Amino acid sequence: MRRNHIVKKLSMLGTTEIRGLDLSEPLDDELIAELKDLWNKSGGMLVFRNQHLTSQQHIDFSRQFGTLFGSPEGVPMQDTVSRYLHPDHPELYCVSNQVNKKGVPKGRKGAGTYWHSDVSFREEPAAASILYAKQIPSVGGDTLFADGTAAYEDLSQAMKDLLAPLHAVHDFAVAAATQYTNPVVINDDLDGANKALHPVIRTHVDTGRKSIFVNPGQTSHLDGFDQAESDALLKFLYEHMTKPKYIFRQIWQEHDLAMWDNRTMMHFAIDDYGDDPRYLERVTLMGERPV
Ligand code: SIN
Repeated sequence: MRRNHIVKKLSMLGTTEIRGLDLSEPLDDELIAELKDLWNKSGGMLVFRNQHLTSQQHIDFSRQFGTLFGSPEGVPMQDTVSRYLHPDHPELYCVSNQVNKKGVPKGRKGAGTYWHSDVSFREEPAAASILYAKQIPSVGGDTLFADGTAAYEDLSQAMKDLLAPLHAVHDFAVAAATQYTNPVVINDDLDGANKALHPVIRTHVDTGRKSIFVNPGQTSHLDGFDQAESDALLKFLYEHMTKPKYIFRQIWQEHDLAMWDNRTMMHFAIDDYGDDPRYLERVTLMGERPV
């Protein structure tokens, strides 16, 4: 396989850009291992530029890194988002502010316009998300990524010790109440399958590095604390995690494919582009139970 790609660091957090690699072709084992290594060293954020992929090629690329939500081998995401899945590829979650000729949304409008980590409310939340930019507004529509590993590592030892034994409840009901009121939430999604208890500090299965694993969009409270105590501690963590030095801003170029690690970072899609068309397709990789 051709190997003359160019690797460039995009941020002090390690975010890495890769040019000159054609992801429409199957990758050999050596290259997959190289990309996984690069992904881990990048803090979990790779941006592949100038990719020309069909939806199937996007899926085929992603499958080389794990099992996909919505695939025959995997489990579906919550029912509420099923209306935004690609009609021919249930593995693909579509993000769009446009409707088709029949007036049906081409994808979820305003998807992810809040700080969250994909599917964190499941016992086994998402590992990676791989988002492909097919149509980008002339200006705006960037996505912010907050690095929970760098944020963790900068905490004082006293705060690390305080957080180490804590667990937090992640609940789709939090997102449902604030993000999904229109159109309606599928009630079955609120019956318990989309609610999980996770450590506040999780250790990455490959790198051994620790990250803060709570997010305002889907974490309801810290286990064992009363609500006011939990709110105060979570507020501190969210303010800390979203300090500018922990943020990478992905200014999308058409044909970018971004692959991020939901175990180490949360993200926020900026909804500032009105009706200027924006269309992206996302594959979500299933992950392990956080420890
Ligand atoms: C998401 O996956 O949360 C959507 C991100 C985006 O549209 O930039």
